[in-house]
Amino acid sequence: MPAAAERPFPSGPPREPAGPPERVAAGPLVLRRVHADDAGAIAVAVGASLDHLRPWMPWATPDAADLRSQLVRVVEADELWESGIGFIYAMIATDGGRPAGPSAVKDPDGEFVGTIGLHRRLADETVEIGYWTVAARTRRGYATAAAQALTPVALALPGTRRAEIHCDEANTASAGIPRKLGYRLDRVEAHEREAPGERGRRMIWVRDLAEGPRATGETAGRAARGGAR
Ligand SMILES: CC(C)(COP(=O)(O)OP(=O)(O)OC[C@H]1O[C@@H](n2cnc3c(N)ncnc32)[C@H](O)[C@@H]1OP(=O)(O)O)[C@@H](O)C(=O)NCCC(=O)NCCS
Repeated sequence: MPAAAERPFPSGPPREPAGPPERVAAGPLVLRRVHADDAGAIAVAVGASLDHLRPWMPWATPDAADLRSQLVRVVEADELWESGIGFIYAMIATDGGRPAGPSAVKDPDGEFVGTIGLHRRLADETVEIGYWTVAARTRRGYATAAAQALTPVALALPGTRRAEIHCDEANTASAGIPRKLGYRLDRVEAHEREAPGERGRRMIWVRDLAEGPRATGETAGRAARGGAR
């Protein structure tokens, strides 16, 4: 057997791509890699949701509702994706093809209802999942469906051992998602307040790779396997 460097063709199974799929089916949603065409929808959605986002999201300022600043953010998101560090998806509600209502932020695939991101921390083999939804589209299970679909996607990233969801203790809406998905509350630690609604105590919800697909459910596995296009 010649040494690897001398072999005429690479051997062994084909390598997995380093990044996640750019589209993931997530129940009533499709999650789609954010691209420049989404900047307008994000700006409109943020503008209509400022009061809802401001308590928890430090970036939720009037400037974030401006198309130009969202264009800059999409370029940054693109760079993060290419560097393999961060993967931001638009949450698009397809809801079985039902027409979107009058207040909808329309999208070619349905309706824009928020974003969700995977953020890698290479040092401790962790991927953190963060999300927000449009104020007029809360409590429809969208954030849960998106996080459910992306949990196995996060855990499949090379060198990843755990997925985490962080939220301030006062953010009961956000804590509802990992709780519902069967994440384990690993710890609560003091942190500097970054947004006005925060109490300064951060909940760290964890899903370990070693725990298997049980807690995120069969549907999440199906969504991730069948949904990547
Ligand atoms: C947190 C947030 C993303 C939730 O999105 P969502 O799509 O409405 O969440 P879901 O419909 O999937 O809710 C899942 C569960 O969370 C809990 N929950 C959601 N909103 C809640 C609220 N306003 N009050 C109390 N519990 C809530 C419930 O347990 C809910 O399940 P149920 O509706 O069956 O009771 C959304 O409220 C949001 O964008 N908030 C502002 C930004 C933010 O806080 N982002 C997270 C930062 S850590």
